[in-house]
Amino acid sequence: MAISIPKGTHDIIANEARGYDYIEEVCANIATVYGFDPLRTPIFEATELFSRGVGESSDIVSKEMYTFLDKGNRSITLRPEGTAGIVRSIITNKLHAQADLPLKYYYTGPMFRYERPQLGRFRQFHQFGVESIGVNSIFEDIEVILLGYEILRNLGFENITLKINSLGDSMSRANYKSALQTYFKDKVGDMCEDCKHRYETNPLRILDCKVPFDQALTVDAPKMKQFLSESAQKDFDIVLEKLDTFEIPYELDDHLVRGLDYYSGVIFEFSYITSEGKDYGALGGGGHYDRLVKELGGPALEGVGFAFGIERLYSVMRDENMIEEKLVTDDVHIMSIGDEARTDAIDLGEALRMMGLRVILNYEDKTLKSLFKRAERSQAKFAVIIGEEEVKAEVLKVKNLQTEEQEDVAYQDAVNHIVGLFKQHHHDQECGCGHDHDHECECGGDCKCEDGHECECGGDCKCEDGHECECGGDCKC
Ligand code: HAM
Repeated sequence: MAISIPKGTHDIIANEARGYDYIEEVCANIATVYGFDPLRTPIFEATELFSRGVGESSDIVSKEMYTFLDKGNRSITLRPEGTAGIVRSIITNKLHAQADLPLKYYYTGPMFRYERPQLGRFRQFHQFGVESIGVNSIFEDIEVILLGYEILRNLGFENITLKINSLGDSMSRANYKSALQTYFKDKVGDMCEDCKHRYETNPLRILDCKVPFDQALTVDAPKMKQFLSESAQKDFDIVLEKLDTFEIPYELDDHLVRGLDYYSGVIFEFSYITSEGKDYGALGGGGHYDRLVKELGGPALEGVGFAFGIERLYSVMRDENMIEEKLVTDDVHIMSIGDEARTDAIDLGEALRMMGLRVILNYEDKTLKSLFKRAERSQAKFAVIIGEEEVKAEVLKVKNLQTEEQEDVAYQDAVNHIVGLFKQHHHDQECGCGHDHDHECECGGDCKCEDGHECECGGDCKCEDGHECECGGDCKC
């Protein structure tokens, strides 16, 4: 019997995996611009890291951890999130003593939570996250929110909802917690089992209970903003002002508490509903934490960070056709018939691959009809046909699979001709200005263009990594 994939996990295949790579690359590039460096931590850690770091009252620790004893009888947990591991790594490696603060790291990789699988919710999923640790200024929090927004913008998101709230400092929060306990005292008996537990351990978490009956009871509950200290309120105002300055729309959300215990101060979440009304859940979320580094045995440094869920980003981008052109299709299918043609085909294939084209060959004698069908299925751009006659005459056939135009090309000219056709194809088919990503620019320079701003060559190419364009303008894009 075939072995099935574990519940809540998924295989990420071919172009979907490329989509993930692309998303992670954009995230890393923007985080780099904001001064972050990569940090890779183990996928498993001592269980205590999460029980102390993320907190016993969180769903993650109380219900969702993949915990086991290893052969040395140590309690090990597959990481459910990235923040605790980054903080542990900073402490283990004494990074705070070696480098200027803040320490700014980004990370990406699989996370594990034993959750009920549903739309946008897996048991193994992937996050891209950032943590900035060691400078306790509200402007550091603002930078991190701007970074999150900028990543989404660069991925092509429009109409993102940024929900934001402040949990205040520990004094504000302690006062608020006891006000909530007073308010829920005679209601908690009717609430769900989770809320009964939350009432004791962290009554703020009652506010984000998803049970409709419990939600209704939270409507008139006291609001955090009534309990914010003067300095917490001032900080929150600065954040909102800056969001206005940068024209980033936000929604104040009194009920946003976030499910992890380490937060204090400003917290936020990014969400997006697709044009078909699908809600995969928050694309990402984060906030400020004041006690985590100390709690895990380090110095009293505060931090701020967020994490995006790559599955959710990808699902939305796929549904909204935001990622199609980043995916790979075949450039050339070389169709050979007979062994003699095969040796010429493989020579040509290698030469074209050296020029950067994605080339697919066939090594079985299939009918041309079935080879063309295959080329069509993989959206190949050109077909090259080499049969017995072509071998004799040393002339092959090149067919543009979009226009259906076909021409004979001498063997000796084949590589240059096909590469030339391919460049022309890129310019004609893929870009408004004549340019798209990863192809040569008509200016004659070898600029690699992205989508974006204006190039002085007159086109509107957006070039990547800062070289001079040979158009004569001084565009450093
Ligand atoms: P989180 O809100 O638990 O925060 O997770 C961040 C993102 O990971 C979520 O917004 C969602 O996109 C994705 N995610 C979470 N659980 C799942 C799941 N079961 N399936 C698919 N995607 C999921 C954190 O993890 C914090 N460490 C973020 C942070 C960093 N705060 C400060 N620094």
